[in-house]
Amino acid sequence: MRLKIAIQKKGRLYEDTIFMFKNAGFRFTKDSTGFIMPCENADFDLILLRDDDIPTVVAQKGCDLGIVGRNTIHEDICEEKYHNKGVSSIESGTVILQDLPFGKCRLSIAGGKTLAVSNLANKSVATSYPYSLLHFAKDIAGINTIILKGSVEIAPKLGIADAICDLVSSGMTLKENELVEGETILHSNAVLIGNDNFDVQNKIYKRIIDAIAEPASPNMKYIMFNCEATNMPKILDIISFSKSPTVLPLAQSGMNAVHVMCKEDDFWEVHKKLKDAGATSILVMSVEKVM
Ligand code: PRP
Ligand code: ZN
Repeated sequence: MRLKIAIQKKGRLYEDTIFMFKNAGFRFTKDSTGFIMPCENADFDLILLRDDDIPTVVAQKGCDLGIVGRNTIHEDICEEKYHNKGVSSIESGTVILQDLPFGKCRLSIAGGKTLAVSNLANKSVATSYPYSLLHFAKDIAGINTIILKGSVEIAPKLGIADAICDLVSSGMTLKENELVEGETILHSNAVLIGNDNFDVQNKIYKRIIDAIAEPASPNMKYIMFNCEATNMPKILDIISFSKSPTVLPLAQSGMNAVHVMCKEDDFWEVHKKLKDAGATSILVMSVEKVM
């Protein structure tokens, strides 16, 4: 019997999940429905779903396993608790089998200035995570949640919310929308979940776990870019995490090429700073191994 693994159908978690499987040596095709990616060299299929639906489908045994952000599971648990006053069928329907080394983010309050949950009394808060918010803010009176499924950061600008409660990864989206991150209510990462009677001795499962347990990739990016030599002090300051970046003069005088390795988690922030400092022709590659 082939195992069915539910994964997010698009977005960053999709990219990282596929990267993890491919990096572990698994190859995939897409079937004609576009919802199933059969693995060509092992007995399992990836099933592409909306992230919110993954815990439900796994709990209902539509899939054996799922990969989802801890934040999604947390929201479901808070929702169940809210409606059932303590009894959660999600909690009994699925188990977290393993933490995965990607999808790191946090659920934070943000606004025009630094805010804590305690500042939200009688305020409107836009969020895709209303139950997580209400769980943490249960002692705060009069919070009006505006539920948005995406682009939450735009709500204050549109005048429909005083603050937001949304996922923050690099912080870029907040910055672009002139919002300041305040109190964090949950730290999240991707997790592998299974339905609660899933047999962890299953041979295919063990093969998958072995393959993904030791990623060949050190989660680094190799960045190459050009910049004016006069900008080097600023650039070297931004990439000061690297002991020995490669700096090469280009044929065009006064221009340099710079090569540097950067942690994947820091990449977007570094990328933004480099662009602001005048880096051009930025080329980014995944690092397979550092030996
Ligand atoms: C997610 C999240 C934040 C953003 C955070 O949105 O909801 O908006 O990423 O990432 P950052 O801190 O690295 O900028 P996503 O891109 O999934 O879009 P959506 O919320 O509009 O669906
Ligand atoms: Zn978003």
